[in-house]
Parts: sequence; structure tokens; C-alpha cells
Amino acid sequence: MTPVPSASAIAFPLPDPELAARVSERMELVETRLRASVAQSDRLADTASRHLVNAGGKRLRPMLALLAAELGDGAAPEVLEAAVGVELTHLATLYHDDVMDSAPVRRGAPAAHEVWGNSVAILVGDLLFARASTTVAGLGPEAVLIQSRTFERLCLGQLHETTGPDEGEDPVAHYLQVLADKTASLLATSARLGAMFGGCPQDVVDTVAAYGEKLGVAFQLADDVLDLASTGAESGKTPGTDLREKVPTMPVLRLRARATAGTASADDLALLATLDGDLSDDAVLAGAVRSLREHAVLDETRALAARWAQDAVTELDGLPEGTVKASMVAFAEALAERAS
Ligand code: IPE
Ligand code: IPE
Ligand code: MG
Ligand code: MG
Repeated sequence: MTPVPSASAIAFPLPDPELAARVSERMELVETRLRASVAQSDRLADTASRHLVNAGGKRLRPMLALLAAELGDGAAPEVLEAAVGVELTHLATLYHDDVMDSAPVRRGAPAAHEVWGNSVAILVGDLLFARASTTVAGLGPEAVLIQSRTFERLCLGQLHETTGPDEGEDPVAHYLQVLADKTASLLATSARLGAMFGGCPQDVVDTVAAYGEKLGVAFQLADDVLDLASTGAESGKTPGTDLREKVPTMPVLRLRARATAGTASADDLALLATLDGDLSDDAVLAGAVRSLREHAVLDETRALAARWAQDAVTELDGLPEGTVKASMVAFAEALAERAS
């Protein structure tokens, strides 16, 4: 049996039971549509497209869309389509991201490129992007434009992560922009489309999008912590993957910043030398992960994630008090502190 999010299994329980029940019920509908949306008549394309949907995942982006829609008419049918569209987009990025990061495991299952090779993984990602576009096209030209601009930001975020900062550019500032583009863009769009198709006024739509943008940066900073601090069983990913592949993360950038500022200890410099060396040996990688886990830069990154989550909450100031706003606050806190 493959795990299906259900009323009892939404990734972050919402504080209001009635709201939680409504969102859970709609998440079941999203799940059914999502599974129907990835079906392909070609057998290989079908199996490979279903691979990551079936493997699970937290379904945060659709949940955020449904939650934002609750500020208006959460039952509007377009909201469900928007929720499916953002998860399909996310799903597609995972196929591509795992190729780029040479990640062996995703959602507790072998990454698609490990099973079918890079070409199939990339093409299946493309097929899923196409399906996302098909879904969003049903929502009209404004939604298509929002989706295409988000897609651009996703690609540029991944590109700038790969190219790194320009000469003279602050690496931490550059990295925060990477996080905003590669991750926050889609969380912002999830909230925006949810509120928009829930029929909320423009100021509410813009407010939840601003919340989603900051929430996304907090979420990705928490992901950087997880790459080091979680077990593979918790995260469904292989700890240290980013380190091994020399993908920059905030804890390592903070360590480098110490070296640049001349405040790094001898141990810090030795750790940086290890990180810049060959991490293909499992024991060497495990040692580096252990050292970073115990290092202050990890707590600094946790604190930074909490600050971005708090800033996300501040964006909600203009919204009326109520169960939806309270849930969005709880959602932000949970995402910054998450363990998976
Ligand atoms: C993983 O996202 C990719 C990032 C942007 C960090 P999630 O952590 O939401 O992955 P799933 O959907 O739960 O697998
Ligand atoms: C994923 O970023 C961002 C996108 C999929 C666009 P990461 O590479 O940091 O995420 P994980 O850790 O593999 O999930
Ligand atoms: Mg990755
Ligand atoms: Mg990546």
C-alpha cells in the first residue's frame, strides 16, 4: 500500500479542529486528482511519473493553497485545481533536482534517476511540468502567467545555486536570493492561487503571497538543517547529500563567512578543508556531518529559519483575527522547526 495523506495524516495538524477537518477532507480530493493527473498511456512514463507521488511527501504546497483559500470561499472548485497544479509543479522539480544533486533517495524511495537513469528522470520531470501547465491552464490566463513566472524563478534559483555568487557579491545574500527563487517562489504562489481562487480581495491575496514567500525561505533554511541533523528515516533523504555534492547550504556558508572574517578557529579551518576535499568515502562524510551537527553554525541556521518564519507571520498583521490566521501562524512555526 502506498501512503495517502488522510485526515489523520496531514503533515502539520492545524489548531482548529473544524478547519483541520475541512482542509483534510479537501486534501483527500486533491490527492485523488493528483494521482489522476500524473497518469500516462505510455507504460514507462506512467510508472516513472507515479513513482514519487506514490512514495508520499508532505503535500505542503496544496495544503497552503487550501488554507489560504479559507480566507475566502475554500470550497470553490478552482481552489482544488490550483492545489493540484502547485503540487505537480513541485513534483516535477524533485525529479530534476535529484538529478542535479545526485541524490540517491527521495521520499524514502530510490530517486527516479537511480531507477531509470538521468534521461528518463529529466523527461518525466518535463512531462509533469506539462501536466502542471495543463491543470493551471484550466484556471485562466492570469493563473498561467503566475505559474510561468514562478517556473522562471524556480529555474533561476537552481541556476544561481549552481553558478554561485558573482565576484564581490556577498555569498550569504546571494544564497538567500537562491532560496527565495528556488523554493519560496512556489510557496508564495501556492498561497496566492489559493486566496485568489477562494475569491479573496487583492490585498488579502498579496498578503498571503508575501507570507508564503518568507515562509518559503524559512522552510528551505530548515531543509538545510535537516540535511545535517535528521536521520534518513525521518527525512526520507540521505543525510549529507548536499555536502557530498558540494551544494551550498547556510551552515557551511556561515562557516566560510567565519573564515573570511578571520574569526574561524583551527578546528573550523580543518573542517572547511575536509568539506572542500573528497567526501566520497562514507566515513569521511559521516565525520563531516557529525562535526557540523555539533557546530554553532547549525543553531545559527535554526535561529535564522525561526526569524524568517516570524517575519512571515508579521506579514499576516493586516488579516482579521480568526482560525485561519491562527493556523497560518502555527503552520509557519511548525515549518521552521520541522523534523522531516
Ligand atoms: C523538498 O520539499 C524540496 C524543497 C524545496 C526543500 P518538501 O520537503 O516539501 O518535499 P516533500 O514534498 O515533502 O517530499
Ligand atoms: C530543492 O532544493 C529545490 C527545488 C526542488 C526547486 P534542495 O535540493 O535543497 O532540496 P532537497 O534537500 O533535495 O529536498
Ligand atoms: Mg536536492
Ligand atoms: Mg537542489
